[in-house]
Amino acid sequence: MVVVLLGPPGAGKGTQCKRIIDKFKLTHLSSGDILRSERAAGTELGKKAQSFMDSGKLVPDDLIIEMMVGAITKAKGNCVLDGFPRTVVQAAELDKELKRKGNVIDAVVNLIIDDSVVENRITGRRSCPTCGAVYHIKSLRPKVDGFCDKCKGQSLTQRLDDKPDVIRERLKTYHQQTSAVVGYYTDAGGEVLDVDADRAIDAVTAEIIEKLESLILAK
Ligand code: AP5
Repeated sequence: MVVVLLGPPGAGKGTQCKRIIDKFKLTHLSSGDILRSERAAGTELGKKAQSFMDSGKLVPDDLIIEMMVGAITKAKGNCVLDGFPRTVVQAAELDKELKRKGNVIDAVVNLIIDDSVVENRITGRRSCPTCGAVYHIKSLRPKVDGFCDKCKGQSLTQRLDDKPDVIRERLKTYHQQTSAVVGYYTDAGGEVLDVDADRAIDAVTAEIIEKLESLILAK
């Protein structure tokens, strides 16, 4: 099963993916997380991606497509894609690659939320550098301040691209280049499952699960 989760920066894509993978037995493939691991490991790809990420621009399509096709193959085509595809070129390449392997996208979920809400969410985000768990200084605090609930790692950190000027650039990039991906899927005749993401985390998860289950039952 391949699920694509779309939405602007800070819509809650990562948060929701982590909550649905067990239910549907999927591997969570976040293009942003993979790029951050490449950077931390000092790979060529990580070095090439750095300046784009830090300025809120998209990493070039060819680098991303190669990286994600490799990750999807490793996941044996059973995955939820978070942050990919982010351009129409990436979406078309993903379709081609899946077709080559006799696979298709089973569902496209689109998290809908206003820019003014996500700016506040992103500036309050804190992540665990050890296990990647994501928190928020107001809406999702760890049980003990500064310590990760999951791995007990210390010093939750703020992402380098979570500064106000970079957030504004990421939102601009989303509206200019990524929002068209929703149109790509509707034009292709597929159903896009719209979900109002400006609600409590549990309510958003419940609606995503309900919509995915209805889609699976209808097949
Ligand atoms: P990436 O890491 O994908 O960043 P993003 O899309 O900007 O998304 P975020 O990770 O910021 O947000 P999210 O939607 O996952 O929200 P989260 O769940 O964390 O990409 C980073 C960069 O990598 C890009 O700018 C680009 O340079 C590059 N890149 C990546 N993919 C690429 C591609 N395909 N092509 C080219 N370049 C690419 O939630 C945010 C916060 O809100 C958290 O604190 C969370 O606790 C809180 N929260 C979540 N849900 C709720 C809720 N319902 N109520 C209250 N708070 C909530």
